Amino acid sequence: MSGIVEGRVVIVTGAARGIGRGHALEFARQGAKVVVNDLGAEVDGTGSSGAAAEVVAEIEAMGGEAIVNGEDVSDFDGAERLVRSAVDHFGTLDVLVNNAGILRDRMLVNMTADEWDAVIRVHLRGTFAPLRHAAAYWRSKAKAGERVDARIINTTSSSGIYGNPGQGNYGAAKAGIAGLTVIAARELERYGVTVNAVAPAALTRMTENLMPKGASLAADPDDIAPVVVWLSSAEARAITGRVFNVRAGVISVAEGWHAGPGVDKGSRWDPAELGSVIPALVEKAAPNALTNGRIPGQED
Ligand SMILES: NC(=O)c1ccc[n+]([C@@H]2O[C@H](COP(=O)([O-])OP(=O)(O)OC[C@H]3O[C@@H](n4cnc5c(N)ncnc54)[C@H](O)[C@@H]3O)[C@@H](O)[C@H]2O)c1
Repeated sequence: MSGIVEGRVVIVTGAARGIGRGHALEFARQGAKVVVNDLGAEVDGTGSSGAAAEVVAEIEAMGGEAIVNGEDVSDFDGAERLVRSAVDHFGTLDVLVNNAGILRDRMLVNMTADEWDAVIRVHLRGTFAPLRHAAAYWRSKAKAGERVDARIINTTSSSGIYGNPGQGNYGAAKAGIAGLTVIAARELERYGVTVNAVAPAALTRMTENLMPKGASLAADPDDIAPVVVWLSSAEARAITGRVFNVRAGVISVAEGWHAGPGVDKGSRWDPAELGSVIPALVEKAAPNALTNGRIPGQED
């Protein structure tokens, strides 16, 4: 098969279903060789099944190349085996898509430590661990004088970057992933690796219960893949450290935190002075975005 990622070797984590499955199939359609990682968990992260093998079978049926990998992405050694499986089987690794995820939604006042830890582990550690091992692989290639043109695409969420009540664990992990994306982009540029993230919105088993009764999110999980595949292509070499909101045909850049209005007294403040300073700064500053990412008053 030929396409914009022809011959590239790609790992997609959490690729047995939902958005990750869409990524794996589109990568294959566009000519990539795909490691379909998934431990086959339920939405809450428990259990395991062989659903990744079905995606590999679909890719093979369309004439593409793919292998199954059943590692838990949050297992540091398992993530190393995942990266090694791509190199051992296909001879190299060009693209890592960190997509695997779980949900354990709860208001903060009721959240248990286990609910917190499980979600932080799968998302944040489960993004760090494959990223860490892929980055070490690309650094060793670059140091050996080989040309590297590699990609990492992480998966964040509006829940984290804009702040959705009821998802403190998930949102904190996703905000962490957005921050990690910016840092990794700065660290890995010197090795020829770009690092970006998508904040998708689509109807999957993860989101079906979050919709108000009768409402539906008119967005197919397969709508996210074109952006992820393009970011993985040679054309996207100059783009790094960015987060993109993607829903159906809508793409927008999630503009990051930046320093707004400020003041410098030239020496330490007395708390009693700040009552006339901080409210004035907040008054001048752009408000935080709404949960849909739009600045109040500027919604489209
Ligand atoms: N669906 C949305 O609207 C939406 C919105 C924002 C962000 N996201 C993010 O997109 C990603 C995909 O979500 P989805 O909606 O397709 O959900 P999904 O539940 O359909 O798919 C997630 C996949 O990850 C796998 N997985 C879970 N834990 C794993 C682990 N430790 N190791 C390997 N695989 C594991 C699951 O088995 C599952 O196949 C997630 O990171 C999610 O947080 C989704």
